[in-house]
Amino acid sequence: MNHLPQQVKIVEVGPRDGLQNEAEIISAEVKIALVNQLTAAGFVNIEAASFVSPKWVPQMASSKEVMAGIERKAGVIYSALTPNMKGLEAAVEAGADEVVIFSSASEAFAQKNINCSIEESIARFRDVAEAAKANKMRLRGSISCSFGCPYQGSVSLEQVLAVVGRMRDLGCDEIDIADTIGVGTARHVQSVMQAVAQVYPLAQISGHFHDTYGQALANIYASMEVGVQIFHSSVAGLGGCPYAKGATGNVATEDVLFMMQGLGIQTGIDLNAVVDAGQFISQHLGRKAVSRAGNALAAKRA
Ligand code: HMG
Ligand code: MG
Repeated sequence: MNHLPQQVKIVEVGPRDGLQNEAEIISAEVKIALVNQLTAAGFVNIEAASFVSPKWVPQMASSKEVMAGIERKAGVIYSALTPNMKGLEAAVEAGADEVVIFSSASEAFAQKNINCSIEESIARFRDVAEAAKANKMRLRGSISCSFGCPYQGSVSLEQVLAVVGRMRDLGCDEIDIADTIGVGTARHVQSVMQAVAQVYPLAQISGHFHDTYGQALANIYASMEVGVQIFHSSVAGLGGCPYAKGATGNVATEDVLFMMQGLGIQTGIDLNAVVDAGQFISQHLGRKAVSRAGNALAAKRA
């Protein structure tokens, strides 16, 4: 059996990736309450905000209020998406610990999501990266469509590696290999992660898997087999991407934690507290959580 890591870092992206796709505007108070519950549950990294154009993603327009209202715990990294200098300036003002620049391995998706080519996005990120470093913020890069694109279909390994190289050269402290539409399967994921690890440190690569085709847990396991130790997940399986039609949420955090618990892999996170947070936000949204483990654990309690 392949050696699995003894501990992994779980980045909770529900407050950003999860909620950004909700059509009904959720109040800043509810978002703040959610982030506070997640902080209390023990996450060391929470994606809490997104400083993008409110015309493009209206749900994220309250990011400034959210960042101002949350109770921060020392040592926890609160991240924010920043597609350009306007976003970076807002993130600095809001006191984000980490900013996320995001592009795509697919040209078509970059155009739809950030309204520019991959090359233009990298040019924009140069200033963002420099300003982030000057402000002593962590810098993370996210690469959408690393396993397939809703517009162009298949995406080659060369396309992924080209963007990884650019993000590495911008000084990213971490790079997310994102499966925006959840089409990756275990062997494909392993081959991409192994190839990325040839050009960027394995310990700084993270897996960001949407669970559209039900492959995310298998893909996390497969990634751990090749040494990846950072994964993104969303409480209650919230989410989707507004510019990837039909894409569903990230893998549910509760499901990931249940799997890690069973494997004896440390996360430092209290699964029961995450189940509570998942039930809280799902009740607020008026629907059942998309987490199998979360719903099972909640049912067992009741
Ligand atoms: P654009 O229209 O080309 O930008 O959008 P622009 O520079 O021409 O500006 C147009 C207007 O937007 C102006 O306002 C700007 O001030 C404003 P106006 O003069 O018309 O009133 N604007 C901003 N406002 C606030 N914050 C900003 C900002 N920038 C410009 N930062 C832009 C280009 C990148 C801004 C736009 O395309 C955008 O906001 N895109 C973001 C889309 C997005 O958030 N997608 C979801 C997140 S990514 C994701 O979910 C994938 C991920 O999870 C990984 C995966 O799963 O694949 C990370
Ligand atoms: Mg995503």
